[in-house]
Amino acid sequence: MGCLAAGASAQELTRDAGKLYAEFCATCHGANLEGGQGTSLIDDVWNRGDGSDEHLTRMITDGLADAGMPSFGAVLDAPRVRGLVVYLRERAVRAQEAHTDYAKPVEGMVVKGRAASFRIETVASGLGVPWSLAFLPGGDLLIAEREGALRLVRNGRLEPTPITGTPKVWAQGQGGLLVVEAHPDYARNGWIYLAFSDPGEKAGEAMTAVVRGRIRDGRWVDEEQIYRAPRGLYRTGGVHFGTRLVFAEGYLFFAIGERGTQDHAQDLGRPNGKIHRVHDDGRVPADNPFVNTPGALPTIWSYGHRNPQGLVARPGTAGAGFQLWETEHGPRGGDELNVVRRGANYGWPLITYGMNYNGTPITAETGRPGLEQPVLHWTPSIAVCGLAVYAGDQFPGWRGNLLIGSLQQQEMRRLVLDGDRVLEQEVLFRGIGRVRSVQVSTKGEVYVCLEGPGRVLRLVPVK
Ligand code: HEC
Repeated sequence: MGCLAAGASAQELTRDAGKLYAEFCATCHGANLEGGQGTSLIDDVWNRGDGSDEHLTRMITDGLADAGMPSFGAVLDAPRVRGLVVYLRERAVRAQEAHTDYAKPVEGMVVKGRAASFRIETVASGLGVPWSLAFLPGGDLLIAEREGALRLVRNGRLEPTPITGTPKVWAQGQGGLLVVEAHPDYARNGWIYLAFSDPGEKAGEAMTAVVRGRIRDGRWVDEEQIYRAPRGLYRTGGVHFGTRLVFAEGYLFFAIGERGTQDHAQDLGRPNGKIHRVHDDGRVPADNPFVNTPGALPTIWSYGHRNPQGLVARPGTAGAGFQLWETEHGPRGGDELNVVRRGANYGWPLITYGMNYNGTPITAETGRPGLEQPVLHWTPSIAVCGLAVYAGDQFPGWRGNLLIGSLQQQEMRRLVLDGDRVLEQEVLFRGIGRVRSVQVSTKGEVYVCLEGPGRVLRLVPVK
């Protein structure tokens, strides 16, 4: 904890941002931030600056002598001020959302988006938590259910019996069967990859693992291990497994969340809180960034990640290969969109735009030299989940855009990019279920996995 100028009584000062607001700000700015003697803090009108984090931080720290707003720099340390900024953001966004109409599509209804119109169509329903999909040549669709079953949709119909013989998964909390993905050369080699929470030797322990296998007559066969962490590094606790699988240029990238132990994200001797890179058969590439670092796990590609929930290879411009883009869950605030670079540190938990779930600060630091900044952060959090780059002919207006989902806000969003910058965000729909995955099929169709109740939708373009 930082030192407090106000001395002994300040030691007892709450760290909960909501309580700090009620104690120090509400008398002038209103219990609901609607304004009073001070101005409204939720109308997105700023008289004294640009509304940036820096502006809000300066206002709270220095006050406004001319207007009669006291300075709080002597009472509130930097982490508490940061917590207040996150709190103001949350309240402002929630207030704006209450006045916005979002499309809440049912089947048959046309959603008119800014760059395309569409309707939704149900592909499969009656599922548990559909975590991800794999599109196979010939039209078969595989669905990974978090509860552990690998399901098949054939000729438009969900087969009642799951594929048998798939790996035993640790299906508790956020853990379970997470990702199913077909090898890019599936038509020739038949490989299907699965990422899941792998039970450890001791009860309650698990870690994200990757295997591949083939499906023959409804059975999972020829299984090979692609990645398993050393058994001693498995963790108890049901949170932050990641993950997604991305094939690019012969490599396989996958992510493991920090498993609820923040500091592990900075420890190169641990698999959690990292993005990993292996060959498609699991071998470690000789040019991985930490292969020669003593004590480091050789599969690590990047680190300082909290809980990656989206990973995609974005085609480079002018034949420049690809860029790896990632979304990850922040704590309360600070969900991130990152461009993932070889060997780079994404900063968790040393820097973050978020605070703890209970409203107390984590740190005042949102950036530090040597630590990567996100392309974009969502504060308040939307619980960003799933990430796809749109390529295809069905939605020409979306070409090159990022499509993302949100669990908490139950949204699907479209992000317009210019190089490494996000120009625009459009909420395509909201409120029909937690969006677990957004994926584009090989034919350019957009599929969405929803939970509560578990179902898979397809977006159908409407002219
Ligand atoms: C004694 C009354 C008072 C208290 C207490 C107070 N403020 Fe203010 N605040 C004001 C006034 C008055 C203004 C100036 C409004 C104007 O004229 O633009 C202001 C301005 C601000 C601004 C800049 C708004 C803008 O339009 O640029 C922010 C941000 C702000 N206050 C946040 C806070 C926070 C957070 C707290 C609690 C830690 C707080 N204030 C406590 C009276 C108060």
